[in-house]
Amino acid sequence: MKILFIGDVVGQDTCTVLGSFLPSLKRELEIKNGIVIINGENSADGNGMTPYSANLLFKAGADVITSGNHCFKRQEADSMYRENPFVLRPANYGGSAPGKGVCLIDRGGFSAAVINLAGISFMLPADNPFKCIDDILKDTGTKNIIVDFHAEATAEKKAMSFYLAGRASAVIGTHTHIQTADEQIINEHTAYITDVGMTGANDSVLGIEKDVIIERFLCYYPKKYALAGGVYSINAVIIDIDEKSGKAQSISRINQVMR
Ligand SMILES: [Fe+2]
Ligand SMILES: [Fe+2]
Repeated sequence: MKILFIGDVVGQDTCTVLGSFLPSLKRELEIKNGIVIINGENSADGNGMTPYSANLLFKAGADVITSGNHCFKRQEADSMYRENPFVLRPANYGGSAPGKGVCLIDRGGFSAAVINLAGISFMLPADNPFKCIDDILKDTGTKNIIVDFHAEATAEKKAMSFYLAGRASAVIGTHTHIQTADEQIINEHTAYITDVGMTGANDSVLGIEKDVIIERFLCYYPKKYALAGGVYSINAVIIDIDEKSGKAQSISRINQVMR
């Protein structure tokens, strides 16, 4: 089973470009019956995710959309989290938050659980992700388990990767928007990368117009964010999992301009 995991998509124009680019990438990677997971927490213009931007990502080819600390920035998205089981918010945001942090994809011949968790170091307060994942793993109904760990601190992500080694098929870091070069298979079982990176404008600071961010650093003035444009790149990983054992066989980084 192949899993294409695409890093934080920034803005609606990026969603549209991704929609044009993804069919050819899927053909090239031969992931016909695989699963496409996209982190969409920044997919709306003006931050967060809206039903409109989520729909752009589903049209682009997402099977599951994960999120993170920006998941509830847009109130109009609350019903989407409640009603669509394939749009996830961090599982450790508590039982009273709208939606869920876990879903099961059933492909007939195999199934896979996708789990979204948020870190707690330098992040919004949340339930302990290590304790939360222990509870979730008691009952996933499958050996194929993919975790989006949306976290700031590299140490927290590394610790989670070793904590889940042999228990999850993949632990994929998101949130920092910068792709790391440490993809690996831990204990011949768990595919891991500290951060899969960002899908968005190249000439930007994490997807935002660079001049706006420079001015904020220079003047401490809360200038409004503006999305950057121009040339867009996809940051992703492709993971091959043996669906009978749930063990990852390989993980490869993708960082390429979308033309
Ligand atoms: Fe993000
Ligand atoms: Fe984030």
